[in-house]
Amino acid sequence: MDPYVEGLGSRSGMPASRVPEPPAKIARHDIREPLGPVIFQPGDKALLTDRRGRRYLVTLRSGASFHFHRGIVRHDAIIGLPDGSRVVSTGAETMTVFRPTYADYVLKMPRGAQVIYPKDVAILLMQADLYPGARVLEAGIGSGAMTMALLRAVGPEGEVIAYEQREDFAERALTNIAEFLGKVENLQVRMASIYETIDETEVDRAVLDLPEPWRALPQIKGSLRPGGILACFLPTILQVQKLTLELELDERWTSVWSQETLTRTWHIDGQSVRPDHRMIAHTGFLTFARLTGPSGGLPPCGGGQS
Ligand SMILES: C[S@@+](CC[C@H](N)C(=O)[O-])C[C@H]1O[C@@H](n2cnc3c(N)ncnc32)[C@H](O)[C@@H]1O
Repeated sequence: MDPYVEGLGSRSGMPASRVPEPPAKIARHDIREPLGPVIFQPGDKALLTDRRGRRYLVTLRSGASFHFHRGIVRHDAIIGLPDGSRVVSTGAETMTVFRPTYADYVLKMPRGAQVIYPKDVAILLMQADLYPGARVLEAGIGSGAMTMALLRAVGPEGEVIAYEQREDFAERALTNIAEFLGKVENLQVRMASIYETIDETEVDRAVLDLPEPWRALPQIKGSLRPGGILACFLPTILQVQKLTLELELDERWTSVWSQETLTRTWHIDGQSVRPDHRMIAHTGFLTFARLTGPSGGLPPCGGGQS
């Protein structure tokens, strides 16, 4: 069985043939490709933005057209252009055409489960100290937004092992990931509840986005290496409190702390300079903890021996 989708079609009973194949062509922004000038090709994603800032994500196909309230843009008019070009619709609307960023794509891609917003993903990657080459345990995969960010952070030398309970979500996530990153060889999906068992040991980081992370703590403790970091995303503060209390019951968990991220954009137009009226106020909370080694064999410190 393809290790990329281990668990799908075996424990789950889902035929492996239903698992979406990643596109044969590796997208130009694939994590393994060097950065450089990008020319739009059929199959690429393109983000079109009009003068008022409305954004449209399209997948380019020869012969196809994008229709909107300001006319039509032929995909062939974009194919062959470099990233960052401008095109004009049949309704005389000038639009910029960019390759979508991670945040552009995540906010526009089809969703099964609710994604972690880019503002929280950004903080999580830094505070949990994700690094190239890290082995990361994740649950659940949801729509694949967090997984994509983890894959980019750990790079081709690292690995992400994602536990998920729902086949429809796993399928959606794998399609989203393949569409954005191309073929990914360092992602394992396990169709199992992380509350029950974790096969992996010595992982460097554990990232949880599910309702009751405290139920996974005993398994995570057996899986994370000493010094490893746990990061959990939770939408309500009662969940954060419950998780914190459970973490504090076990002295192997240290450096337990939580935060939320409020991002306020500004309106800057001539002399009118003020915060925007609207903001995405609440998304959720992040809780972090660090695992120490087993407490037995604690070495003496401070010269108290006689
Ligand atoms: C909010 S979604 C995760 C979204 C994901 N972080 C993203 O950014 O796209 C929560 C996911 O956890 C999964 N889940 C819930 N309980 C689980 C468990 N015990 N083991 C594995 N996955 C679980 C759900 O099926 C769902 O896909």
